[in-house]
This record gives sequence, C-alpha cells and structure tokens, in this order.
Amino acid sequence: MCGIVGYWGKKESVPILIKGLKRLEYRGYDSAGIAVIKRNNLNYLKKTGKVRELEKEINREKLTGQIGIAHTRWATHGIPNDINAHPHMDVSESMALIHNGIIENYSTLREVLLKEGVKFKSDTDTEVVVQLISSIYKKNGLSLEESVRAALQQVIGAYGVVLVSKDEPDTLIAARFGSPLVVGIGEGEYFVASDAAPIIDYTRNVMYLDEGEMAIITNGELTIKNIFENKIISKEISKVDWSVEQIEKGNYPHYMLKEINEQERTVVDTMRGRLRVEDGDAHLGGIRDFMPRIESARRYYITACGTSWHAGMIGKYLLEEYAGIPVHVEYASEFRYRETIVGPDTVVIAISQSGETADTLAAIRKAKEKGALTLGICNVVGSSISRDTDCGVYTHAGPEIGVASTKAFTAQVTVLSMLALMLGRRKDRLSKSQGQEITRSMNKLGDYIKEVLTDDKQLQKVAKDTQNVNHYLYLGRGLNFPVALEGALKLKEISYIHAEGYPAAEMKHGPIALIDENMPVVFIAPHDKTYEKILSNIEQVKSRKGITIVITDKHSKDLDALADYLIVIPSTHAHIFPILVSIPLQLLAYHLAVLRGCNVDQPRNLAKSVTVE
Ligand code: G6P
Repeated sequence: MCGIVGYWGKKESVPILIKGLKRLEYRGYDSAGIAVIKRNNLNYLKKTGKVRELEKEINREKLTGQIGIAHTRWATHGIPNDINAHPHMDVSESMALIHNGIIENYSTLREVLLKEGVKFKSDTDTEVVVQLISSIYKKNGLSLEESVRAALQQVIGAYGVVLVSKDEPDTLIAARFGSPLVVGIGEGEYFVASDAAPIIDYTRNVMYLDEGEMAIITNGELTIKNIFENKIISKEISKVDWSVEQIEKGNYPHYMLKEINEQERTVVDTMRGRLRVEDGDAHLGGIRDFMPRIESARRYYITACGTSWHAGMIGKYLLEEYAGIPVHVEYASEFRYRETIVGPDTVVIAISQSGETADTLAAIRKAKEKGALTLGICNVVGSSISRDTDCGVYTHAGPEIGVASTKAFTAQVTVLSMLALMLGRRKDRLSKSQGQEITRSMNKLGDYIKEVLTDDKQLQKVAKDTQNVNHYLYLGRGLNFPVALEGALKLKEISYIHAEGYPAAEMKHGPIALIDENMPVVFIAPHDKTYEKILSNIEQVKSRKGITIVITDKHSKDLDALADYLIVIPSTHAHIFPILVSIPLQLLAYHLAVLRGCNVDQPRNLAKSVTVE
C-alpha cells in the first residue's frame, strides 16, 4: 500500500530510486513520482500510471540528482492523477515529501493552514504534512529536523514519511508511525524504503524503524531519534537474508507463476528443522517458551485478513480437532472494533504474510491490552506484527511479490498444521503413530507439489473452455471448505470473474439457484470421510447442467462419469490435502487471468500490503 524509497549518498540517485520503485510496485501502482536534490535545487516529476510511465518522463526530462525520494501510490484520498501523486511539495516548492499511510486529522490541519494563506494543490491527506512542516520551518526558525518533529507531533494517523529540502540539501529525514520503514546502511550511503527489496542490491545491513522513530541522515551520519521526545536511540543493525534472485522474476512471465512453482521448495523450507518425523511431532522454536500458556489456554482467536484469514480457517479445523480448544476466526478489521471474549486465558494468533497489515496489527495490540498471549505467523522477518507479538513462527516462504498470495498461504497452512500437531501430541489427542502418519505425509509434500506442478494441461484446458464465463462456484467440505473460499478469492482477485466459495452442502440453500450450463463449479473431492456426501453435491450440479470441475486424489467410476473435467492429484493425509489442493486452484486462477488478458501480478485496485484501515 504505497511504496517508499529514498537515497542519500554520492551516486546518481535516479536509477537507484527507479529500480527501487519497481521492486516496490506491488505495494501500489496507480501513480508514481520522484524528487531529487542537485546542487541546491529540488526537482520533481510525477506521473499517473505505472513506474515505467514515470521512467519515460524522467528520460525525456533528463532528470538527475544525488539525494532523492520516490514513491509508488495506491490512492486513498484523491483520485490517481499526476497532481495527487507523491512527492508532495510545499508552496515554495523547496520541500518534497512522500508518505505511506493515512493522516486522520488532515482536514483540521488543512483548515489551519488555509487560514495562514497556504494554497493546496492536491486532494490528498499527505500534502498537509509537507505544508505544515514548511510553515513551521519558515515561521519559527527551526531546523528541518526540528520542524519535522514539531509537525509530526500535531499529526494524527498512520505514516511512514520521507522528506528532503533544498534549504538543507544534505539532509534526508524519515519518520515512522504505523507504516513500515527500513533504513539500509551502505558504505557512505543510506537507503530508506518500505521494505528491504530496494535495498538488497546495495547492502544487507538494515535497521527497522519502530513506531515513533525518525531517522535523520545528514553529513554522512545516521541518527535515530524518538519523534516525540527528541531522544537519540541506539538500534541494532539486522541482516537481510533475501537474495536478489528471490525478488526477481527470472524466466517466468509473472511473479505469481514463479511463486506458485516455488512451492515445492517453500513448504519444505517452512518445515525445515521443525518436523520430527520419527517422533510424529513438530518443534517450533519461536513459541517453545510459551508452550505452557498456549497448551493451557481456554480459547484461541485467529485474526487475519484476506488469504491469511483463509489459512486461519483451516487452522481452526486443525486446532480444534488436535488441541481440543475452541478457536474463533475473526477478520482483523472486525476483531479490532468488536467486543471479543479475550483475556489472559486466550491465545490470539495473528497470521500475516507481510506482517504489516494495519487491521491485523491493530487487532494484536487490542489483544495485548486485554491480556491475551499473542502469537504471530508472519513471512516477513522483522515486520511489525512479528515484532509486536509475544512469540511467533516465521513461514520462511521467501519474498512474495505477486499481489495474489500463493506460496505464503501454503506456508501459513503448513505452520498451522505443525502447531496443531504439536498441541495434539502434547495433549495426547494424537498418538505417536497418528503423529507419524502426519509427519510422513508432510515430509512428502514437496514431491507431491512437484507432481501437481509438472502437469497442468487439464487445468489449462478448463481455463480455455471457461474463460468467457461470468461466474464460478467453488465447493468443498470440512477442511476443504476454506480451500474453496481461497480458490474463489484467487480467481476474483486476478481474473475479475465473480466467484464464490461455499461449504458444498450449503449449495442447496442458495447458490444452486444460479446453476445453469454457464456456471462452472469446482469441487474439492478427496476420498476422505466427506467423499460420498460431496458426490451427491456433484450430481445435483450435473443434473442442473452445471459444468463440473472435480479435483480429487484418485479416479473412481462415479467421478469419471460425473466430472466434465477431472483433475487427479496425489493422495495424502486428509489434514495435509488442503495444502496440496490449493495449488491446482492457484494455477486455474492464473491461467484464466492470463487468457483474459489481466495484469496477473498487479490486479486493478488491489495492493499487496494493506497498511491503511
Ligand atoms: C491484501 C493482499 C492479500 C493478503 C491480504 C492480507 O489484501 O492482496 O493477498 O492476503 O492483504 O495480507 P497479509 O500480509 O496480512 O497476509
């Protein structure tokens, strides 16, 4: 949700900033802009559309500079156009600021500034911040740093901001309250970005800014201070372990396809060193010290958004069965404003790929206030949620760039399966041999995924034959009901085909009315205890001329007769099947989106990291 990048150093900054923006484009892609300082001049360019549009403009204008900032936007206040794009300038165009987040009291601040005679150019909330800093700077004779601090003390809302000014051309200031910022520390140069992706080409040494902190880079020195108290903070340097290959597309046409294909390895990475195959158990180091409290909890809440919420739904089924503890799954946006039954006897599990989703972050803060133990399941190391929770488990899926989550989802479900297994074993609800059955299946998961990925011709055929439909229905039972929800979400996100997921038996209570010869229905139908039941659901669709697409784990006479399209994937333990069966659903959505000419990696209106409410 808006990507920020800044550079302080002696190199030509424009190519560094543009490359950085391309790396961050998954965070927002409706407009982009740049501002650079060159010999006491501040020049800027802003453009509606993708970063490449801005790049063309930069080449036309031959923009160059040393210290600079750049931004890729996902609009919140004001439509995506050149004026509303960041950076925003003050009236005298001597200061430029980029922002990720939402300024909640912007209209009050704007009123005050309007009375002072400030003329606003844009419809954004961001512009008030730069105008306010500039007004303080001019009126009070404060330094740039002091003016930023004074202004931010009046700002209510969430922000990650970076600012430069031609009046102090050697200074770059970044501040964080609610939106992530990482500072990269190179040899005589510094980088500031929303995440480490734009930084890792130059350095692996980073500092993650915490809430209420600002970084002041001037004279080749970096100082971290508290925004509100002007105290110097000493912070540790962390190492980023992502590789450049991990964040590049390689030979794949899309990040999404690359990430789907990576899953044969990423699920193995998620389990690495954690699975105790012979003991039929798992070991999650990040929660070890908290196990007594986790085991004795009276209830769990799982809170998350989007795809991560679907992983949480699968987690509910597994945890209730293995741990025997009631689990409530709540959208974080509901959890944070609702009266939930949360207290010291509750464990609140927050699931988030990015670790930065604003609602999920707010939900865990609320859970902590109520005395609950908070446990994070995050992909991005050092992210806000991973740092704000009491304990947690990293999913280790590697950077996910495609907006539609794929490998992070299967990694989340893998972690939840291990957590449920651990609890089941400790609570004696799973015997050693039952545990072994699960761990052995988990151990083979990478090979099974490889098998699914190797042959997707049938899925391509389904996509080709159904590319012009307007609706899709996904049905599953038990653990595969949330998988149906996720399959439908994948499809609507990237192909813009309306899709719904339902528990298969619920079809009779509504969706069946929609079924005709133009309605493809995807059934997730493994040969488990739900098989006979789902078979009758397939018959009900078939008899209404619906198009039946069945994903199962082996051929059967019934399925061969009933399915218009039968996709057979390897047979595995029922509790692991949701991970495996997610992959054909991701591929189906992908092929449909490509055939329909959609922008797979950057679907319209979506952003990967939703750092605003
Ligand atoms: C956005 C993304 C989804 C993601 C959701 C939650 O909507 O487009 O792919 O599932 O945010 O993100 P998180 O990083 O918290 O898992």
